[in-house]
Amino acid sequence: AEIKQLQEVFVNWYMQNHRLLPWRLDRNPYRIWISEIMLQQTRVDTVIGYFERFMQRFPTIADLANADDDLLLKTWEGLGYYSRARNLKIAAQQIMQDFNGKFPDKPKDIAKLKGIGPYTAGAISSIAFGLAEPAIDGNVMRVVSRLFLIEDDIAKASSRKVFDQAVRKIIDTNYPGEFNQAFMDLGSSICLPTQTQCNRCPLADFCLAKQTNQQLAFPVKSKK
Ligand code: ADE
Repeated sequence: AEIKQLQEVFVNWYMQNHRLLPWRLDRNPYRIWISEIMLQQTRVDTVIGYFERFMQRFPTIADLANADDDLLLKTWEGLGYYSRARNLKIAAQQIMQDFNGKFPDKPKDIAKLKGIGPYTAGAISSIAFGLAEPAIDGNVMRVVSRLFLIEDDIAKASSRKVFDQAVRKIIDTNYPGEFNQAFMDLGSSICLPTQTQCNRCPLADFCLAKQTNQQLAFPVKSKK
């Protein structure tokens, strides 16, 4: 019963407060994919311009699969981590060859694409296809560890399944893309690493860390 309340409060908060970003204008999986890859290591404000230029130069999956390598890397210049751009082209070729040029709509198939790990597969599955899949990155782990007082070390790969299970228990199956992006926005604007703004947090009434005044003790993170 309480989970239903959390979902309603959180999705409503997202719907009323989310930033209007170019990849949030529709549910085109190609656009959402490119944005999620760019956002992995680059801030939203920087990504916006790169995203618009990339879409002008490579408007479709077929265009990306046939991209001139020099133009592709030139378009990526400044974003860094150039293997991301090379993997994008390889994955576009996979989509042309293995999925008839249509972006796959099953999480298992999405996860087969070059450069797409569990986070990106979950983000695309939920945002583009409305599937109730978690999308867990460092920001989401911080928020969820505080919400539920999860003490598992976020530096350990084995902790991922703990967070995955926690999010699966609460994800709103009617609005999974909005729910996941609400976590992302919360993590980048309110539930910050060393400064929490619980007075403006939609989840404050549900948050076990807030109730016990331990916000800054979470997440637990060892030095590797
Ligand atoms: N960071 C990564 N993906 C994001 C998204 N879809 N919205 C906001 N921030 C993000």
